[in-house]
This record gives sequence, C-alpha cells and structure tokens, in this order.
Amino acid sequence: MTNQTFIMCKPDAVERGLVGEIVSRFERKGLKIVAAELRTADKALAEEHYAEHADKPFFGELVSFLTRSPVFAMIVEGPSGNTWELGRILIGKTQVTDAQPGSIRGDFATTTNENLVHGSDGPESAAREIGLWFPNR
Ligand code: RTP
Ligand code: MG
Repeated sequence: MTNQTFIMCKPDAVERGLVGEIVSRFERKGLKIVAAELRTADKALAEEHYAEHADKPFFGELVSFLTRSPVFAMIVEGPSGNTWELGRILIGKTQVTDAQPGSIRGDFATTTNENLVHGSDGPESAAREIGLWFPNR
C-alpha cells in the first residue's frame, strides 16, 4: 500500500492566493510534499482525472472549472498507508454546508463547486492520480 496521496490546489485556490495556506496545512500536519507542479490542465487530463463523474450532470462544469487556470498539483507522503485519508480530513467534506471549520473547505470555501482542493479518496485512486499527473514518478 502506498504512503502517498495526490493533492491538488484547484484553480480557485491559485486565483485566491491560497496555495501557501493549503501547503502549510499539510506540512504542519507532518506530511511531506515530495513533488509539486503548477500547470494548466487540458480538457483530456481533466476528464481523465474526474472520469468517475463522467455521467454526472455537473461533469461539464467540473471540467471547465478545472481547466480555466493553473492548478498546483502535489504528491504528499506520510508515514503509513492512510495518507490519503489524512488528506481528506484536512480538506473537509464535499458539500460546502457539511465542511467543518478547521478543514480547508470549512475555513475558506463558500460553494460546493469551487471548493479549493482535491484529494484522492482511496489508495487505488491515489496510485491512479499520481500516475496520471506525475507520469515520470
Ligand atoms: P474532489 O474529488 O475534487 O477531491 O472532491 P470530492 O471527492 O470531495 O467530491 P467528488 O464527489 O469527487 O466530486 C468532485 C467535485 O465535483 C463537485 N461536485 N458537485 N453539484 C454537486 O452535487 C456536486 N457534487 C460534487 C465538487 O466540486 C467536488 O469537489
Ligand atoms: Mg473526489
């Protein structure tokens, strides 16, 4: 089981100047940034990244949001195989009204669509997303 997860500051986070704030939350937790890149995702990459949502009514909006400006993509590493889960706790719940203060979304997001940060939701998606965004690692 991998000790790594894929974390991404979405376009709204980069636009709002929240990359440093978000990175620091992972670092102060004790997780390590082992790779990072600022890049603009093209449509194909965004569609592949969110492939599990291809049939959802919000898919088109999700892909245009993710591709509208640069994202800050990261591989984050922890001491054990639950790194993806620790990441999800730091990020907060998906629905904006469920995201608790103290989490990134709970502290900084006001809508479910623009919720600042993505984190892998399991060990398999962590491995898949790391391979997709960082094919040379
Ligand atoms: P992410 O993949 O970005 O980390 O978000 P997540 O796991 O918390 O949520 P997920 O179910 O994977 O949904 C991906 C993104 O789609 C948007 N969404 N909108 N309108 C809706 O009901 C709805 N549901 C999800 C959110 O921006 C969510 O982050
Ligand atoms: Mg997700």
